[in-house]
Amino acid sequence: MKNKELFPSPNPLSGVVNVPGDKSISHRAVMFGSMATGITRVDNFLDGEDCMRTVNAFRSLGVRINKEESTLIIHGNGASSLAEPLTPLYFGNSGTTARLMLGVLAALPFFTAAYGDKSLTKRPMDRVVDPLTQMGASFEGRNNGCNLPLAFRGGGLKGICYTLPVKSAQVKSAVLLAGLFAEGETKVIEKTTTRDHTENMLHAFGADITRNKNQTVITNKKSLKSVDVFVPGDISSAAFFLAAATIVPESTITLRNVGLNETRTGIIDVMGNMGAKLEITNEQTVSGERIGDITVSYGELNGIVIDGDIIPRLIDEIPVIALLATQAEGTTIIRDASELRFKETDRIAAVVDVLSALGAKIEATDDGMIIHGKTKLTGGHAASYDDHRIAMMIAIASLITEGKVILDDEACIAISYPDFFDDLNSVIG
Ligand code: S3P
Repeated sequence: MKNKELFPSPNPLSGVVNVPGDKSISHRAVMFGSMATGITRVDNFLDGEDCMRTVNAFRSLGVRINKEESTLIIHGNGASSLAEPLTPLYFGNSGTTARLMLGVLAALPFFTAAYGDKSLTKRPMDRVVDPLTQMGASFEGRNNGCNLPLAFRGGGLKGICYTLPVKSAQVKSAVLLAGLFAEGETKVIEKTTTRDHTENMLHAFGADITRNKNQTVITNKKSLKSVDVFVPGDISSAAFFLAAATIVPESTITLRNVGLNETRTGIIDVMGNMGAKLEITNEQTVSGERIGDITVSYGELNGIVIDGDIIPRLIDEIPVIALLATQAEGTTIIRDASELRFKETDRIAAVVDVLSALGAKIEATDDGMIIHGKTKLTGGHAASYDDHRIAMMIAIASLITEGKVILDDEACIAISYPDFFDDLNSVIG
């Protein structure tokens, strides 16, 4: 376990940050490139632990993937060339690898076993096992097939019409990926829009996919065609710098080439409603995704209510939004966010514990939290819960605490942002 001492920022923050590539899009680029025919070049790939789990899973299935810094070259030979792995696949901490890969592997005609780390082993897999079972897959696994480790022999799937019972892009993606290989048509209906990178990328790789309001239909197409992918900067990583510049007086930071897909920009809407100073410039579309630069400056905030359909558009940013709320005048209420309990850790419990330890007035509810601002944060011990987003939220909080913060275990940050402290130190100056 690696502890880290963190100190309040002696200076206003300033500078430019190129946040690393988007985690969700990086995973998908590896998956589609590996199942396509031809060479797929992926630029600005997120070289974090989670995405490397996906790379290594496809290497185990026989795909040649070369990596040079943040560029991947994937030598795809089509999904039919994927071969039975010799050993169980290890998905580490990565929920996206696990849930999306189950959709792919359920369709492939060979035996696979898969397992994860302590956190992933506790996370629910029945949300993907159930629809995949309806499509004809059969799984054996711990807790009646609800949790990893899981073992299965794939193939012979039939299309289904599936209404998502949880607001989850991972579940939607698993069903669409299985639908790519299933007989007939697979339809996914979602009541609340979740991130749509899978749909965008399936379209770019030539899949037969059509979208109509909240319904997506995919039909069997075993041969995807390779296409180069530029991965935008991850708005979920940018969120830490958006918060940092907003709470440290006199700061201004510019974040370059950040993904601005509307299904992900809830944090920008919420910060705007709280009174934060944000400006978006240089907007363009690259590889089917909106990107742009975001400039953010220090500003006074007010508390708000965050609930309903915006929640999936900012689900991963809630830890840092809670921190912002501690610095806002008035009360912030976050609800309809019970999915937070199924992340790398129970993020409702973790956020409330960490911010309370640092002097915030925050209480947990069943499906969210209530934060009373504005409070001066103290120093002290704060546990990362082995969750990258909790650890980075603590590091941002420490910029404005009265005394030093001791972060218990920073190693988990490498899951999504290996150079986080280098980038943070560069804006502290
Ligand atoms: C992700 C979807 C979200 C998100 C996760 C990445 C994805 O999870 O929290 O970090 O890449 O599809 P859920 O599908 O569980 O909501």
